[in-house]
Amino acid sequence: MEENIIPMPRIGDKAPAFKAVTTQGEIDFPKQYEGEWVILFSHPADFTPVCTSEFITFASMEEQFAEAGCKLVGLSIDGLYSHIAWLRTIKEKIEYKGMKDVEVNFPLIEDITMNVAKKYGMIQPNEDSTKAVRAVFFIDPKGVIRTILYYPLSLGRNFDELYRVLQALKTADAFDVATPADWRPGDDVIIGPAGSCGTAKDRMDGKEDMVCQDWFFCQKKMDKDAVLKAIAKK
Ligand code: BEZ
Repeated sequence: MEENIIPMPRIGDKAPAFKAVTTQGEIDFPKQYEGEWVILFSHPADFTPVCTSEFITFASMEEQFAEAGCKLVGLSIDGLYSHIAWLRTIKEKIEYKGMKDVEVNFPLIEDITMNVAKKYGMIQPNEDSTKAVRAVFFIDPKGVIRTILYYPLSLGRNFDELYRVLQALKTADAFDVATPADWRPGDDVIIGPAGSCGTAKDRMDGKEDMVCQDWFFCQKKMDKDAVLKAIAKK
C-alpha cells in the first residue's frame, strides 16, 4: 500500500486547516475566513497557458464574487517568487478574451512541498504526481466543504458555472429549497421530496404553496430580486 495516503476531503467535511505563505502574506485557513464563503482552487503550475487564462478570468470576477460574500484563494505547486513573477507577467503582458492589465489581488498559496495540495486531494498521481489537478472547493461560513469540483490538467474551468454554484448554494441555504438542472436566479426552485404519505397527499391536493406534477416533483416560483437580495453579501 502507498505510504502517506491522506484521505480526500468530502462534501460535508470541515475544510482541512493549514497555515501557508501566499502572495498576499500568511494565511490561516479556513479560520480567517470564518463568517464568509471562500473558494479554494488549485492550478497545476505557474507560467502555464490554461492556468493563465483561468487566473485572468477569476481575477476579473473577483469583485463579483466579493459582492456575493465570497473570497477567492488560489494554489499552485510553485514557490512564492515564481508566483510573484507569474502574476506580474500576467498584468504586464497577457490579454485573454479582451481582459488585460489584470491584477490578481487574491492570495496565491506557495505550495512547493505539496503539503496543502495533498491535504485537499489535489494531487491525483495517475493524472500527474507533481502537479495539482484543477480542483475547486466551495467552503461555507462555518468552514464546511459544500461542493467539490475536479478538472483534469487540460481542461480550463467554466467560471460562470462556479458563480452559479455559489448562487445556488446560498439560495438553498436561504430558502431551504433545492435547485434543478441549469438553475439560475429567477427560475423555479425544487421543494424536497414529501416525507410522508400525508404530505404527498396535501401537495397533490394543492394545499401547499407549490406546483406538483406528481407527489415527488414539486416546484415553486422564487422571485429573482428576492433571491439576489438573499445571496448578496450581508
Ligand atoms: C496549462 O495550464 O496550460 C497546463 C498545465 C499543465 C498541463 C497542461 C496544461
